[in-house]
Amino acid sequence: MKKEKLLDLLNEMTLEEKIYQLVQLSGEFFNSDDMAIGPKQELGITQEVVDNVGTIYNVFGAENLKKIQDEYMKKNRLNIPLVFMADIIYGYKTIFPVPLALGCSWNPELVEKSMKVVAEESAVSGIHVTFSPMVDLVRDPRWGRVIESTGEDTYLNSIFSSAMVKGFQNNMEPDKSIVSCVKHFAAYGAAEGGRDYNTVDMSERRLRQDYLPSYKAAVDSGCGMVMTSFNTVDGIPATGNKWLLRQVLREEWGFNGVVVSDYAAIKELIDHGVAENEEEAAQLAIEAGVDFDMKTGVYANNLKSLVEKGIIKEDIINEAVLRILELKNNLGLFENPYRGADEIKEKLILCSENNRKLARETAGKSMVLLKNDNKVLPLKKEQKVALIGPYADSKMLLGMWAFTGDSTSVVSLKEGLENKVGAKINYAKGVDILEDYSILGSMAKFIGAEQQEDFNSEAAMKQALETAANSDVIVLALGEHMLQSAEGGSRADLSLPKHQIELMDKLKETGKELVLVIFAGRPLILTDIQHKADAIIQAWFPGSEGGNALADIIYGDVNPSGKLAMSFPYSVGQIPVYYNHFSTGRPERPSDNGSRFRSRYLDIPNSPLYPFGYGLSYTEFEYSDVKLSKDKLTDNETIKASVIVTNVGEVKGEETVQLYLQDVKGSVVRPVKELKGFKKVVLEPKESKEVFFDINVEMLKFFTGSMEFKAEPGRFKVYIGKNSAEVHEAEFIYQ
Ligand code: GLC
Repeated sequence: MKKEKLLDLLNEMTLEEKIYQLVQLSGEFFNSDDMAIGPKQELGITQEVVDNVGTIYNVFGAENLKKIQDEYMKKNRLNIPLVFMADIIYGYKTIFPVPLALGCSWNPELVEKSMKVVAEESAVSGIHVTFSPMVDLVRDPRWGRVIESTGEDTYLNSIFSSAMVKGFQNNMEPDKSIVSCVKHFAAYGAAEGGRDYNTVDMSERRLRQDYLPSYKAAVDSGCGMVMTSFNTVDGIPATGNKWLLRQVLREEWGFNGVVVSDYAAIKELIDHGVAENEEEAAQLAIEAGVDFDMKTGVYANNLKSLVEKGIIKEDIINEAVLRILELKNNLGLFENPYRGADEIKEKLILCSENNRKLARETAGKSMVLLKNDNKVLPLKKEQKVALIGPYADSKMLLGMWAFTGDSTSVVSLKEGLENKVGAKINYAKGVDILEDYSILGSMAKFIGAEQQEDFNSEAAMKQALETAANSDVIVLALGEHMLQSAEGGSRADLSLPKHQIELMDKLKETGKELVLVIFAGRPLILTDIQHKADAIIQAWFPGSEGGNALADIIYGDVNPSGKLAMSFPYSVGQIPVYYNHFSTGRPERPSDNGSRFRSRYLDIPNSPLYPFGYGLSYTEFEYSDVKLSKDKLTDNETIKASVIVTNVGEVKGEETVQLYLQDVKGSVVRPVKELKGFKKVVLEPKESKEVFFDINVEMLKFFTGSMEFKAEPGRFKVYIGKNSAEVHEAEFIYQ
């Protein structure tokens, strides 16, 4: 429909009909006949609202959504279609690795390709919009939602943000695309104490320098929607923050899409203490620029009276309604309310062999080899393996935000190994993931992740030790429960549970070589156990093809290439620990010989156990010194920086060469290094390649003392290497 027609449509709408377009409800209102007494009354909304809402979310299936759309359109006086949204974060039926794992691939092209698959599976199932990507910068693994982010670096997050938006929106082909809603705007990942929904408070400089760029990357890549975050931004909750939503997002960045609140976040303005009641909450949010209200009756029950009392103008409602009509129009819903929904294609495409194959490739690129002493990996097929642990044959490899996934079709590690060797693998569970499932609350039952049976028994332990005794090598699969991670999954103790460590200790006593595979949605604290394993693979929650991808790595068909997108703390006490920190006035220096009066701990090192950018390969790469084409940079030139990388090992491998810069002195303090580029290089044994980077003035810009975004003349250091801690350096002057 032409834009002017949308204005005509808007003018035909009553005030009530406009307001109902600003309400989003979830599936239970449309999936069953419990509307009479269901959550509707909890929200204090009428059937008329339900019949006229603008959008619903988390309802799935082509046939089901077509039926809902048909019934809805019959009741809607002006024939305005529903828009169907959903939390399809990293997979619909074929589930890819969780985003923190995807970040470790350092492969935006592969991730974009993967999100295109996600988009196609979603589109043919009737979905129009996804609440993804989540691009919150994260520096605190106590926060359960680090699982949904691509990590601690602004530059890497921005690259993945753009790749995911492009993958989802895929040129807006009706049966291959979904509109992307970037979230959570803004800085939700900085919740104090890593405690979900907690206060966020930082300088505008840090917000703009570190946290906002990944959202802007999504906007610059054309994302159609933005979701507000639960947290405060400089004392005002994002969902009521006019500066954030109007000045930054719309005026500075030129975003003209739709802004949705996070779940009940408008109503939560009351609990935050910036709204006395729902009417004030409605006023604050609509004036801040939140276009629609997810899952509360605040807009539905208050906007009309606010207009009638003259507290807000109808224009501000018209502005929001027009953006939602434009979203529906951009989706082509006025011409085809079903868009890409297609039962036939659904059967052909969902979890297809090709899609699973891509999920397997992506998972293999997202896992990180943290340790491999004496080249215990890759295993040989003739070795007798004892596969032990609570994750050894588990299918709970999808992470929490994959409830549309099919866990029964997940390939477990045991199945993956047996597929690979073509024979039964000796297996014993040993212990369960948790000893006490009550910490998971009712959610465990809801998603069928409750305790299977009591495995924490003498007999189970005995069987595990016997299995290990009759083997050449132990593969031990441990980790956190998937519900200990993700939303509401904040934890203060990030060590593996004692009963899992006890199993590991007993297996270690057998003297067999031990390969540890960790399943988790966050960096766990591995400091006290890493010396007990000969090799460690961080598998994350690897998705539908997790077991096959792990088998590819364990038997060497895939040479691991993943690099950490988030630091692994040495101790919880270090958090937040991240590579691009400031120097401080008393930086710890080896020459201090442990002097007391330096920025250090008495009991632990400052550096993480494994740093940002770290990841091993089955081969080794050596780096030459950094070469610069010149040592002075001016505004319109570039400096070519290069290193020669050599594969000095025995097998072919892929290396991610990382470029960091340091602004040695600025009008404000600057990080000791910042990622500014990376390049992948594949080298045969003994092969060398010169890897080049162009350094330009854009890379030097930052928010200066006067909050201008520009570069300042002075000395800069160039660091190039295999991770943020192992680098070669050079220097140049920017004039
Ligand atoms: C949740 C999450 C958000 C999600 C939304 C809808 O609370 O914060 O990421 O998209 O609600 O489920």
